[in-house]
Amino acid sequence: MLSTTSIHKFQKTAQEILFLKQSASLWEQEGFWTPKNVMDSINLSQTSLFYIKDPTNSVWMSSIMVYNCFDYWDVLYIYTHPNYRHRGLAFSLLGHLVEYVKENYMNQIFPSDVPPYIHLEVKTNNEAAIGMYEHFGFKKITLRKKYYSTGEDAIIYRYEL
Ligand SMILES: CC(C)(COP(=O)(O)OP(=O)(O)OC[C@H]1O[C@@H](n2cnc3c(N)ncnc32)[C@H](O)[C@@H]1OP(=O)(O)O)[C@@H](O)C(=O)NCCC(=O)NCCS
Repeated sequence: MLSTTSIHKFQKTAQEILFLKQSASLWEQEGFWTPKNVMDSINLSQTSLFYIKDPTNSVWMSSIMVYNCFDYWDVLYIYTHPNYRHRGLAFSLLGHLVEYVKENYMNQIFPSDVPPYIHLEVKTNNEAAIGMYEHFGFKKITLRKKYYSTGEDAIIYRYEL
């Protein structure tokens, strides 16, 4: 498991934007998000992105993007570069996200009585992601029929802090 100091928060520097675009083109090759989807999302003020970079080169090993509005949190993307999978990187990012949500929840201007949840959706055939979310402690809450443009259903998961 990596120390949290290896996890960086995206600050929109020119270099980070370049690395993000490189990373996103890989995601697209695997049938996930297009660089345009990624750039549109990161330009929203409600999104935050965390990443772990290979210290020996410029490769982004793993990254996670989250959308937040008051006490609603939604994981938009989580992706680990194929050469760096099964090392616990995505798991570390989920753990970091939970700490980040806790910190923001404590400091938010309009605190709610209800502890925040983290939501996400995943294709029913994405075994790696489902395995990871369930191992981490996400609970399946519902199925959204034909959610994806391909006609596939989405499972909605929730993590309760
Ligand atoms: C899903 C994904 C992010 C996992 O990244 P990763 O860095 O390899 O995951 P980790 O090494 O942190 O694995 C954590 C846990 O997830 C589960 N997991 C990871 N890969 C798995 C696989 N191929 N099959 C089943 N479970 C898997 C395991 O429980 C694992 O814990 P363990 O190593 O103790 O067994 C990665 O496979 C990926 O980027 N896939 C493509 C993008 C994607 O599907 N994103 C999710 C969209 S909703």
